Amino acid sequence: MDRYLVFGHPVRHSKSPFIHTLFARQTQQELEYGLAEPAVDEFAQALRTFFDQGGKGCNVTVPFKEQAFTLVDRLSPRAKRAGAVNTIKLTDDGVLLGDNTDGAGLVADLKSHGVTLADSRILLLGAGGAARGALAPLLAELPSELVIANRTHTKAQQLAAEFCDLGPVTAQTYEQLAGPFDLVINSTSASLQGELPPLTPALIHTDIAIYDMMYGASDTAFISWAKQHGARQTMDGLGMLVEQAAEAFTVWRGIRPGTKQVLRELKRNLGVI
Ligand code: ATR
Repeated sequence: MDRYLVFGHPVRHSKSPFIHTLFARQTQQELEYGLAEPAVDEFAQALRTFFDQGGKGCNVTVPFKEQAFTLVDRLSPRAKRAGAVNTIKLTDDGVLLGDNTDGAGLVADLKSHGVTLADSRILLLGAGGAARGALAPLLAELPSELVIANRTHTKAQQLAAEFCDLGPVTAQTYEQLAGPFDLVINSTSASLQGELPPLTPALIHTDIAIYDMMYGASDTAFISWAKQHGARQTMDGLGMLVEQAAEAFTVWRGIRPGTKQVLRELKRNLGVI
């Protein structure tokens, strides 16, 4: 049977096996999907061994995405832009192809929530790997403006400079930000520590859409904060998780699974509904 897995550390709580097993059932594909948690300095060897032993493809998550970028034979254009690889496919001619489906997953999830990206003013919080992966797919949707704000301002400036050939992207400090924005995307890891990016509540209004790439069984700190200040449309990263997985599944199997039912099952599994 064709074998796939996700590499990460820690990865025990990954929902990817759950999601891909449902995709396989739905599309009647014969495959198995497991977990691998190599020591941080043993990822390269573990990856090689997996493919030497007949593995067909894998997902790569924290902290291995940047390393995976350097280990594959060929990169898709979107992985090259993201500087990170979250999906690897062994092609029929034996080439390890590195791809990145995170940004496509974000855009697909935003669209499935009815968020309009064309001509919108988008504020992206954070300038780490997650922000980098999101930039090209967001700019491809032709927003009127995309502003990056980051605690360490120089990193936001670097990202804006790197992506300004793709669209109207600028960097501003948290203090400089002036609304109104239509959409705020939190790509920072602040919610992981229950912290908040230093955003003024004055930017939150009833028609704004709020997206946190993090997720949990209950609202993230950022989503709670935004709701408290009047945001009515809030979304967490669970849908992005399912959508990036659907995109990876499509890369591997050439067939696109539906995501709605799988997202519902995942929420049930997490105890969200
Ligand atoms: P990832 O790959 O998830 O993006 P990362 O590359 O470590 O992770 O980036 C984390 C991002 O979250 C960074 O933009 C970081 O800001 P700095 O560049 O200033 O470190 C941001 N971040 C983390 N904790 C934060 C907090 N408490 N407030 C604001 N930003 C935070």
